[in-house]
Amino acid sequence: MSKTGILAVSFGTSYPDALVKNIQAIEDAVGSAFPGLPVRRAFTSGMIIRKLKQRDNVHIHTVTEALKSFLADGFTDLIVQPTHIINGIENDAMLKDLAAYREQFHSIRVGKPLLTEPSDYQALIDALAAEFSGLKGDEFLVFMGHGTEHHANAVYPALDYMLKAGGFENIYIGTVEGYPDLPLVKELVRKRAPKKVLLAPLMIVAGDHARNDMAGEDEDSWKNEFLREGYEVSCLLKGLGEYEAVRQIFAEHARKAAPL
Ligand code: CO
Repeated sequence: MSKTGILAVSFGTSYPDALVKNIQAIEDAVGSAFPGLPVRRAFTSGMIIRKLKQRDNVHIHTVTEALKSFLADGFTDLIVQPTHIINGIENDAMLKDLAAYREQFHSIRVGKPLLTEPSDYQALIDALAAEFSGLKGDEFLVFMGHGTEHHANAVYPALDYMLKAGGFENIYIGTVEGYPDLPLVKELVRKRAPKKVLLAPLMIVAGDHARNDMAGEDEDSWKNEFLREGYEVSCLLKGLGEYEAVRQIFAEHARKAAPL
């Protein structure tokens, strides 16, 4: 007898509304690709898991705990879909955790993160272009990506390049912890002297980075940095999980999940 389950793996968030609007919403979209199959949740951030436990007494499984729970309940086959954006540190750690349990299941199939193939970049650009079609020539949209020391950081400049090549010359990609960084994006935007700058997270969830580093009141928040450049600045606190088209990319990746 075979019994198949779905595991949705996210970095995690401690904001209850962001959990529902982004992570839960992606889990639901992935689940709808496989009617009747149960979807379980795991987080990769130990820090978030500890915070939820301490604050709310809610226990979210790690990847390993989720695998154990599937085994305990007699599941033989798994489809695993990460809600990660890039094939970076979190995704590598997830793959390692899955590999350790590979022999305990008949099969484990794994879907790709949001931005893996060039066609994924295009799908995201199409989604963003539709969402921000109202942008005027003197309005610039600057996305805050996370960024990483992992080589997968190359996704961010590549996405920026594809946006420009696709004619979206007033959309920029910056990162908090990688390349391109804020000073570079500010310099590039300054050369084009827009009137308004709209800031939005290029992250699954509008969590701490979006609320504090991007839209916060600190001197060095992106909002204040761009205000000092003399633009009108507005912030959109909307995670990528809130975009229907993004959720559909994850569902498609789950349908195409490949054996581990
Ligand atoms: Co971070």
